[in-house]
Amino acid sequence: MRLFILGSAAGGGFPQWNCLCHVCRLHWSGDPRVTARSQSSIAATADGVHWLLLNASPDLRAQIMASPPLMPSCGADDAARRASPIAAVLVTNGDVDHVAGLLTLREKQAFDLYGTEGVLGVIADNPVYSVMDPACVTTRPVQMEQPFEPVPGLTVEIFPVPGKVPLYLERGEIDVGAEGDMTVGVRLSAGGRTAFYVPGCAFVPEHLAARVAGADVLLFDGTVFVDDEMQRAGVGAKTGRRMGHMPMTGEGGSIDAFDGRDVGDRVYIHINNTNPVLIEGSDERRAVEAAGWRVAHDGMEIVP
Ligand code: MLT
Ligand code: MN
Ligand code: ZN
Repeated sequence: MRLFILGSAAGGGFPQWNCLCHVCRLHWSGDPRVTARSQSSIAATADGVHWLLLNASPDLRAQIMASPPLMPSCGADDAARRASPIAAVLVTNGDVDHVAGLLTLREKQAFDLYGTEGVLGVIADNPVYSVMDPACVTTRPVQMEQPFEPVPGLTVEIFPVPGKVPLYLERGEIDVGAEGDMTVGVRLSAGGRTAFYVPGCAFVPEHLAARVAGADVLLFDGTVFVDDEMQRAGVGAKTGRRMGHMPMTGEGGSIDAFDGRDVGDRVYIHINNTNPVLIEGSDERRAVEAAGWRVAHDGMEIVP
Protein backbone atom coordinates (compact mmCIF):
# COMPACT_ATOMS: atom_id res chain seq x y z
CA MET A 1 0.00 0.00 0.00
CA ARG A 2 1.12 3.53 -0.75
CA LEU A 3 -0.45 6.64 0.69
CA PHE A 4 0.12 10.03 -0.84
CA ILE A 5 -0.77 13.20 1.06
CA LEU A 6 -2.23 15.52 -1.57
CA GLY A 7 -3.45 18.21 0.80
CA SER A 8 -2.48 18.39 4.46
CA ALA A 9 -4.33 21.59 5.47
CA ALA A 10 -7.88 22.03 6.72
CA GLY A 11 -10.62 23.92 4.86
CA GLY A 12 -9.22 27.19 3.50
CA GLY A 13 -5.71 25.76 3.14
CA PHE A 14 -2.51 27.30 4.45
CA PRO A 15 -2.20 30.20 4.12
CA GLN A 16 -5.89 30.99 3.87
CA TRP A 17 -6.52 33.55 1.14
CA ASN A 18 -7.72 36.32 3.45
CA CYS A 19 -5.96 35.50 6.71
CA LEU A 20 -3.48 37.53 8.72
CA CYS A 21 -3.34 35.31 11.78
CA HIS A 22 0.11 34.85 13.30
CA VAL A 23 0.88 31.76 11.22
CA CYS A 24 -0.48 33.05 7.90
CA ARG A 25 1.43 36.29 8.43
CA LEU A 26 4.66 34.30 8.47
CA HIS A 27 3.83 32.88 5.06
CA TRP A 28 2.81 36.22 3.54
CA SER A 29 6.07 37.74 4.79
CA GLY A 30 8.18 34.95 3.27
CA ASP A 31 9.30 33.27 6.47
CA PRO A 32 11.04 29.99 5.52
CA ARG A 33 9.79 28.19 8.64
CA VAL A 34 6.35 27.73 7.08
CA THR A 35 5.36 25.88 3.90
CA ALA A 36 2.09 26.35 2.02
CA ARG A 37 -0.32 23.46 2.24
CA SER A 38 -3.39 22.70 0.15
CA GLN A 39 -6.77 21.46 1.33
CA SER A 40 -7.53 18.09 2.80
CA SER A 41 -7.14 14.99 0.61
CA ILE A 42 -5.04 11.85 0.33
CA ALA A 43 -4.69 9.14 -2.32
CA ALA A 44 -4.11 5.43 -1.77
CA THR A 45 -3.10 2.52 -3.97
CA ALA A 46 -2.27 -1.14 -3.54
CA ASP A 47 -1.07 -1.91 -7.06
CA GLY A 48 0.61 1.42 -7.85
CA VAL A 49 -1.64 1.84 -10.90
CA HIS A 50 -5.20 2.35 -9.67
CA TRP A 51 -5.65 5.07 -7.08
CA LEU A 52 -8.41 5.79 -4.60
CA LEU A 53 -8.86 9.47 -3.83
CA LEU A 54 -9.96 10.02 -0.24
CA ASN A 55 -11.83 13.31 -0.34
CA ALA A 56 -11.82 15.65 -3.32
CA SER A 57 -10.38 19.00 -2.35
CA PRO A 58 -11.06 22.35 -4.03
CA ASP A 59 -7.30 22.26 -4.78
CA LEU A 60 -7.51 18.93 -6.61
CA ARG A 61 -6.37 20.16 -10.00
CA ALA A 62 -3.19 21.71 -8.55
CA GLN A 63 -2.66 18.60 -6.42
CA ILE A 64 -2.72 16.39 -9.53
CA MET A 65 -0.32 18.78 -11.29
CA ALA A 66 2.10 18.27 -8.39
CA SER A 67 1.71 14.47 -8.19
CA PRO A 68 3.13 12.38 -11.07
CA PRO A 69 1.37 9.14 -9.95
CA LEU A 70 -2.01 10.84 -10.45
CA MET A 71 -1.33 12.26 -13.91
CA PRO A 72 -2.68 10.60 -17.05
CA SER A 73 0.08 8.29 -18.26
CA CYS A 74 1.03 8.86 -21.93
CA GLY A 75 2.56 5.40 -22.17
CA ALA A 76 -0.58 3.60 -21.09
CA ASP A 77 -2.52 3.22 -24.30
CA ASP A 78 -1.93 5.06 -27.59
CA ALA A 79 -5.66 5.24 -28.32
CA ALA A 80 -6.66 6.56 -24.92
CA ARG A 81 -7.82 10.15 -24.78
CA ARG A 82 -9.32 10.15 -21.29
CA ALA A 83 -7.37 8.11 -18.73
CA SER A 84 -6.74 9.04 -15.13
CA PRO A 85 -5.09 6.80 -12.52
CA ILE A 86 -7.86 8.01 -10.18
CA ALA A 87 -10.28 5.10 -10.42
CA ALA A 88 -12.42 5.81 -7.38
CA VAL A 89 -13.22 8.54 -4.88
CA LEU A 90 -14.41 8.13 -1.30
CA VAL A 91 -15.76 11.13 0.61
CA THR A 92 -15.69 11.09 4.42
CA ASN A 93 -18.14 13.95 4.92
CA GLY A 94 -19.89 16.66 2.91
CA ASP A 95 -17.63 19.57 3.91
CA VAL A 96 -16.59 21.96 1.16
CA ASP A 97 -12.91 21.02 1.51
CA HIS A 98 -13.83 17.36 0.89
CA VAL A 99 -16.36 17.54 -1.94
CA ALA A 100 -15.73 20.71 -3.99
CA GLY A 101 -13.01 18.90 -5.96
CA LEU A 102 -15.61 16.56 -7.43
CA LEU A 103 -16.35 19.42 -9.83
CA THR A 104 -12.79 19.09 -11.14
CA LEU A 105 -13.50 15.45 -12.04
CA ARG A 106 -16.33 16.29 -14.43
CA GLU A 107 -14.64 15.77 -17.79
CA LYS A 108 -16.23 12.49 -18.95
CA GLN A 109 -13.97 10.43 -16.75
CA ALA A 110 -15.30 7.11 -15.48
CA PHE A 111 -14.87 6.53 -11.76
CA ASP A 112 -16.78 5.19 -8.79
CA LEU A 113 -17.90 7.62 -6.10
CA TYR A 114 -18.20 6.07 -2.64
CA GLY A 115 -19.66 7.51 0.55
CA THR A 116 -22.46 7.02 3.02
CA GLU A 117 -26.07 7.33 1.88
CA GLY A 118 -26.24 10.58 3.86
CA VAL A 119 -23.20 12.26 2.32
CA LEU A 120 -23.97 11.04 -1.20
CA GLY A 121 -27.50 12.37 -0.65
CA VAL A 122 -26.15 15.84 0.15
CA ILE A 123 -24.14 15.72 -3.08
CA ALA A 124 -27.10 14.44 -5.12
CA ASP A 125 -29.32 17.20 -3.71
CA ASN A 126 -26.99 19.88 -5.06
CA PRO A 127 -27.64 20.37 -8.79
CA VAL A 128 -24.12 21.63 -9.51
CA TYR A 129 -22.82 18.07 -8.98
CA SER A 130 -24.93 16.81 -11.86
CA VAL A 131 -21.97 17.90 -14.01
CA MET A 132 -20.57 14.49 -13.06
CA ASP A 133 -22.22 12.60 -15.89
CA PRO A 134 -24.03 9.53 -14.48
CA ALA A 135 -23.02 7.70 -17.65
CA CYS A 136 -19.41 7.97 -16.41
CA VAL A 137 -19.61 8.30 -12.64
CA THR A 138 -21.14 5.46 -10.67
CA THR A 139 -22.37 6.44 -7.22
CA ARG A 140 -21.87 3.63 -4.73
CA PRO A 141 -23.32 4.04 -1.23
CA VAL A 142 -21.40 2.00 1.32
CA GLN A 143 -22.48 0.66 4.69
CA MET A 144 -20.53 1.06 7.90
CA GLU A 145 -18.06 -1.73 8.63
CA GLN A 146 -18.76 -3.52 5.34
CA PRO A 147 -15.43 -4.00 3.56
CA PHE A 148 -15.25 -3.12 -0.14
CA GLU A 149 -12.47 -3.01 -2.74
CA PRO A 150 -12.66 0.28 -4.68
CA VAL A 151 -9.33 -0.34 -6.43
CA PRO A 152 -7.55 -3.67 -6.93
CA GLY A 153 -6.01 -5.09 -3.78
CA LEU A 154 -7.08 -2.27 -1.46
CA THR A 155 -9.67 -3.23 1.14
CA VAL A 156 -11.57 -0.31 2.58
CA GLU A 157 -14.01 -0.03 5.45
CA ILE A 158 -15.77 3.05 6.81
CA PHE A 159 -16.94 3.56 10.37
CA PRO A 160 -18.77 6.39 12.17
CA VAL A 161 -16.76 8.94 14.13
CA PRO A 162 -18.09 11.79 16.28
CA GLY A 163 -18.83 14.71 13.98
CA LYS A 164 -21.59 16.88 12.61
CA VAL A 165 -23.36 17.93 9.44
CA PRO A 166 -21.46 20.19 7.01
CA LEU A 167 -21.30 23.86 8.00
CA TYR A 168 -23.62 24.87 5.13
CA LEU A 169 -26.33 22.52 6.45
CA GLU A 170 -26.19 23.73 10.04
CA ARG A 171 -29.67 24.90 11.18
CA GLY A 172 -30.78 25.54 14.76
CA GLU A 173 -29.32 23.31 17.45
CA ILE A 174 -26.36 21.32 16.18
CA ASP A 175 -25.50 17.93 17.60
CA VAL A 176 -21.71 18.18 17.47
CA GLY A 177 -20.24 14.79 18.25
CA ALA A 178 -23.08 12.75 16.83
CA GLU A 179 -22.02 9.38 15.46
CA GLY A 180 -24.14 9.11 12.38
CA ASP A 181 -23.49 8.81 8.68
CA MET A 182 -22.35 12.41 8.10
CA THR A 183 -18.76 11.92 9.30
CA VAL A 184 -16.77 8.73 8.89
CA GLY A 185 -13.28 7.40 9.40
CA VAL A 186 -11.64 4.98 6.98
CA ARG A 187 -9.67 1.78 7.46
CA LEU A 188 -7.39 0.87 4.55
CA SER A 189 -5.65 -2.47 4.29
CA ALA A 190 -3.50 -4.26 1.74
CA GLY A 191 -0.80 -6.90 1.91
CA GLY A 192 -1.25 -7.33 5.66
CA ARG A 193 -0.69 -3.63 6.41
CA THR A 194 -3.33 -1.32 7.86
CA ALA A 195 -3.80 2.45 7.87
CA PHE A 196 -6.55 4.64 9.29
CA TYR A 197 -7.63 7.98 7.86
CA VAL A 198 -9.71 10.21 10.15
CA PRO A 199 -9.56 13.85 8.98
CA GLY A 200 -12.42 15.05 11.19
CA CYS A 201 -13.24 13.86 14.71
CA ALA A 202 -14.94 15.73 17.57
CA PHE A 203 -13.60 13.41 20.28
CA VAL A 204 -12.18 9.90 20.66
CA PRO A 205 -14.59 7.44 22.27
CA GLU A 206 -13.06 4.26 23.67
CA HIS A 207 -14.35 2.20 20.75
CA LEU A 208 -12.40 4.39 18.30
CA ALA A 209 -9.18 4.15 20.29
CA ALA A 210 -9.67 0.37 20.43
CA ARG A 211 -10.41 0.18 16.70
CA VAL A 212 -7.09 1.71 15.67
CA ALA A 213 -5.05 -0.52 17.98
CA GLY A 214 -2.51 -2.48 15.94
CA ALA A 215 -2.59 -0.07 12.98
CA ASP A 216 0.61 0.61 11.09
CA VAL A 217 -0.41 4.19 10.33
CA LEU A 218 -2.92 6.62 11.78
CA LEU A 219 -3.65 9.81 9.84
CA PHE A 220 -5.66 11.90 12.26
CA ASP A 221 -7.48 15.23 12.62
CA GLY A 222 -4.84 17.86 13.45
CA THR A 223 -7.04 20.91 12.91
CA VAL A 224 -6.13 22.88 16.04
CA PHE A 225 -3.40 22.71 18.67
CA VAL A 226 -5.63 24.10 21.43
CA ASP A 227 -9.42 24.16 21.43
CA ASP A 228 -9.80 27.98 21.58
CA GLU A 229 -7.05 28.63 19.03
CA MET A 230 -9.25 30.56 16.56
CA GLN A 231 -10.39 32.88 19.34
CA ARG A 232 -6.85 33.39 20.60
CA ALA A 233 -5.71 34.09 17.05
CA GLY A 234 -8.42 36.72 16.71
CA VAL A 235 -9.92 35.16 13.60
CA GLY A 236 -13.12 33.54 14.82
CA ALA A 237 -15.42 32.79 17.72
CA LYS A 238 -15.72 29.03 17.31
CA THR A 239 -13.77 26.44 19.23
CA GLY A 240 -12.24 23.48 17.45
CA ARG A 241 -14.74 21.18 19.11
CA ARG A 242 -17.67 23.29 17.91
CA MET A 243 -16.36 22.78 14.38
CA GLY A 244 -16.28 19.03 14.98
CA HIS A 245 -12.51 18.95 15.47
CA MET A 246 -10.90 17.95 18.76
CA PRO A 247 -7.66 19.73 19.69
CA MET A 248 -4.26 18.04 19.72
CA THR A 249 -3.55 19.06 23.30
CA GLY A 250 -5.34 19.56 26.58
CA GLU A 251 -7.71 17.24 28.35
CA GLY A 252 -9.34 14.89 25.89
CA GLY A 253 -7.00 16.04 23.11
CA SER A 254 -5.76 13.61 20.48
CA ILE A 255 -2.26 13.25 21.93
CA ASP A 256 -3.77 11.96 25.19
CA ALA A 257 -6.48 9.95 23.47
CA PHE A 258 -3.99 7.74 21.62
CA ASP A 259 -1.22 7.81 24.20
CA GLY A 260 -0.08 4.30 25.04
CA ARG A 261 -2.10 2.75 22.20
CA ASP A 262 -0.45 0.35 19.80
CA VAL A 263 -0.24 2.59 16.71
CA GLY A 264 2.86 2.67 14.50
CA ASP A 265 3.13 5.95 12.62
CA ARG A 266 0.98 8.83 13.96
CA VAL A 267 0.53 11.64 11.49
CA TYR A 268 -1.52 14.81 11.84
CA ILE A 269 -3.46 15.91 8.77
CA HIS A 270 -6.25 18.48 8.09
CA ILE A 271 -4.22 21.19 9.87
CA ASN A 272 -5.83 24.60 10.24
CA ASN A 273 -3.92 27.71 9.15
CA THR A 274 -3.96 29.00 12.76
CA ASN A 275 -2.18 25.92 14.12
CA PRO A 276 1.37 26.77 15.30
CA VAL A 277 2.60 23.23 14.55
CA LEU A 278 2.82 24.51 10.96
CA ILE A 279 5.89 26.50 12.06
CA GLU A 280 9.07 24.41 11.85
CA GLY A 281 10.92 24.51 15.14
CA SER A 282 8.06 26.10 17.11
CA ASP A 283 7.48 24.95 20.68
CA GLU A 284 4.18 23.46 19.57
CA ARG A 285 5.79 21.51 16.70
CA ARG A 286 8.39 20.20 19.08
CA ALA A 287 5.70 19.23 21.59
CA VAL A 288 3.72 17.10 19.15
CA GLU A 289 6.90 15.49 17.82
CA ALA A 290 8.02 14.70 21.37
CA ALA A 291 4.64 13.03 21.85
CA GLY A 292 5.34 10.77 18.87
CA TRP A 293 3.40 12.54 16.12
CA ARG A 294 4.49 13.78 12.69
CA VAL A 295 2.94 16.79 10.95
CA ALA A 296 1.92 16.00 7.37
CA HIS A 297 2.94 18.16 4.43
CA ASP A 298 1.72 18.12 0.84
CA GLY A 299 3.56 15.55 -1.25
CA MET A 300 4.39 13.35 1.75
CA GLU A 301 4.38 9.69 0.85
CA ILE A 302 3.74 6.96 3.39
CA VAL A 303 4.30 3.26 2.81
CA PRO A 304 2.67 1.59 5.82
C1 MLT B 1 -14.25 21.69 8.62
O1 MLT B 1 -13.43 20.79 8.51
O2 MLT B 1 -14.68 22.05 9.73
C2 MLT B 1 -14.77 22.33 7.40
O3 MLT B 1 -13.91 22.08 6.34
C3 MLT B 1 -15.04 23.77 7.60
C4 MLT B 1 -15.43 24.43 6.30
O4 MLT B 1 -16.27 23.89 5.58
O5 MLT B 1 -14.85 25.48 6.00
MN1 MN C 1 -12.47 20.34 6.77
ZN1 ZN D 1 -4.42 32.20 9.21
